[in-house]
Amino acid sequence: MTKNLEQMKCLFEPQSVALIGASGNPGKISYNILSNIVASGYKGKVYPINPKGGEIFGYTVYTKLEDIPGPVDHAIIVVPAQMVFDSVKECAAKKVQVIQIITSGFSEVGNTEEEKQIVKYAREHDMRILGPNIFGTYSATAPINSTFGPADIMPGGVAILTQSGALGAAMIGKTKAENIGLSTIVSIGNKADIDEADLLEYLMYSDQTKVIFMYIEGVKQGDRLVKKLKEVTKVKPVIVVKSGRSKRGAMAAASHTGSLAGADGVFDAIMKQCGAIRAETVQESLNWCKFLSNTSLPKGPNTVIVTNGGGIGVLAADACEKYGVPLYDDLETLKGIFADKIPSYGTTKNPVDITGGANPAGYEKCLRAAFENPEVHSVICLGCETAMIDVENLPGMLEKIYHDYKDTKPMSFSFFGGDAIEKMVSDLRAKGIPIFNETYDCVSIMGALYKNLHNINEPAEDFSFVDSIKVDEVRINEIVNKVKADGRTFLLAHESAELMRAAGVSMPISKVAHTLEEAVDLATGMGFPVVMKVVSKDIIHKSDAGGVALNLENRDEVIDAWEAIMHNCRKYNPNAKITGIEVCEMVKSGTETIIGARQDSSFGPTIMFGLGGIYVEVMKDVSFAALPISKKAAMNLVESIKSYPLLLGVRGEAKKDINAVLETIIRVGKVLLCCDKITDIEVNPLVAYEEGNGAKAVDARILLTKD
Ligand code: COA
Repeated sequence: MTKNLEQMKCLFEPQSVALIGASGNPGKISYNILSNIVASGYKGKVYPINPKGGEIFGYTVYTKLEDIPGPVDHAIIVVPAQMVFDSVKECAAKKVQVIQIITSGFSEVGNTEEEKQIVKYAREHDMRILGPNIFGTYSATAPINSTFGPADIMPGGVAILTQSGALGAAMIGKTKAENIGLSTIVSIGNKADIDEADLLEYLMYSDQTKVIFMYIEGVKQGDRLVKKLKEVTKVKPVIVVKSGRSKRGAMAAASHTGSLAGADGVFDAIMKQCGAIRAETVQESLNWCKFLSNTSLPKGPNTVIVTNGGGIGVLAADACEKYGVPLYDDLETLKGIFADKIPSYGTTKNPVDITGGANPAGYEKCLRAAFENPEVHSVICLGCETAMIDVENLPGMLEKIYHDYKDTKPMSFSFFGGDAIEKMVSDLRAKGIPIFNETYDCVSIMGALYKNLHNINEPAEDFSFVDSIKVDEVRINEIVNKVKADGRTFLLAHESAELMRAAGVSMPISKVAHTLEEAVDLATGMGFPVVMKVVSKDIIHKSDAGGVALNLENRDEVIDAWEAIMHNCRKYNPNAKITGIEVCEMVKSGTETIIGARQDSSFGPTIMFGLGGIYVEVMKDVSFAALPISKKAAMNLVESIKSYPLLLGVRGEAKKDINAVLETIIRVGKVLLCCDKITDIEVNPLVAYEEGNGAKAVDARILLTKD
């Protein structure tokens, strides 16, 4: 067991708990925490600490932590902020393993330095900190409820990790109201030390936990989260809600938790890459959690919709496309299952319309036939209220069907209608049956289930192709160090080109000429047409300065271009030190793409891909992924832009060399990973030629760290 796992065990399954700041005053937070610990039936040792001593809830109150006779593995600090550090020091002396700091007043209000010092001290003394600024933790395994939220929590299979304390506390009540059992609920607060990645390590192995739900406001150390999520989602579903999607929301989240909400596009893409299932709303995620923690996995993709109305059938089919629910369409088998059970004017095509005349007995016949057929793997049952539907007998039939088949095949229901239908839906939901009024809700839970199935079945990432691609790390670092030594945080064009060549990225042949004669010789040597660009660290935007000349066909044009560039640049910036003029091979035209790699403030090394020109500038049609990426993930990156069909070739154009693009993506990613002084790389454009003819980077910009 890793040290982290051991310490997370002390958080979720402590042997002994010290409550520092325990008060006998029912108006105090610490009193409520102790009251919840008692009510949860915690079997370990409980040590309230308060300088006044005495007794609370029958427990002896110790005046100091050091006076406790036995060991303490878990401490909860509930004293005002200015006393927290001293309490943490006392915990170190007592060899506490994990500390929950309930107290507010740290980085969320700008008191970042003290928070950092506390964590540094704790880590130096082998202790882990949850919080500060949290409402506590509930764990069904211990069991222990050390929150100051509601006392009444239903144990079950859903783990909730929440960055918002208030929302978390409310979710305790909400899950109870919705009959959702919790394995744990953890408030992470400022995430000064313990974060989602640490907690996921424990939850992955927790038998009690069937589904994990994370409410995230901002991501810190996203690279750790990515690694852990990829492991966990292969074993159990992880559902994510992220606030701060809009610019305004992100600003509110940043001031709320003291952490930066990552750009939503990056977050969304990386969650998909890791197999986390992203929900839009808390309600949606709770629906998914409840369903996924109670249902069996489908044995295959064949979902059948049974409906008494064509309209809701079509709505459900739309929703299936949106949520990725695969619909069964073997017409012969469907006919075999349903034809003799529905009127001739019904339809056996999926959605199967058993017609508005269907009564509970008619539904039952069709549903049982679907469940009994081995080709059908899951069922969505829909209904609109009609006079035939017989709301008296319908609920009993649905309940029976649910119990007869729930352990073998997943199913969800949606019924729409008046008061009696609404009552039936809420009564059946209270009994744990996945039934909704809204068709989309009923389909979305099935979508989450199929996403989970896809994650579980997905083969482990294969990095053999990526490993076979080598970049010259020594040369790359030499080039960067030389630029650093020159006091610059950006590479000049010819330096970037040299670095890219060291990474095996195909760049146009290029050399810097220091005299006109040299330029003419170089151009003649590499063959016309050529491009000429000014080389000066004082001129970054070369085109603006008139420092670029394209498509030079012969010796005379090179001579004219030399004169013009020198003249323009001297006029643009008379003080600019001009090193020379770069003469480059003119790249043939093809499909322009763009590859970016950067150190993201939330997720660390990330990569971006898009088509060049208007697609990236106007349409913002780009995709993101966290590094490192396998060849398959690189392919997902390329396929997920909307303009991907252009790479496949449209209107009779040939398919482009996608393999060459993938290889360049992998090489650019490797450059970022092999040199921690590089913050940004942009290869723009990378011109992709027809399949088999490769791709060529025309230009590369590379930025370095400021320190
Ligand atoms: N060791 C142990 N106990 C101590 C102590 C020490 N060094 N110093 C003081 N105490 C005792 C106090 O005497 C008091 O007990 P009493 O009621 O018997 O007098 C108890 O600890 C609590 O201290 P007090 O000063 O009364 O603080 P409080 O209970 O009013 O508030 C916090 C403490 C932590 C709750 C408050 O500072 C806070 O941060 N509140 C916000 C919490 C929150 O919202 N978290 C985020 C949720 S999402």
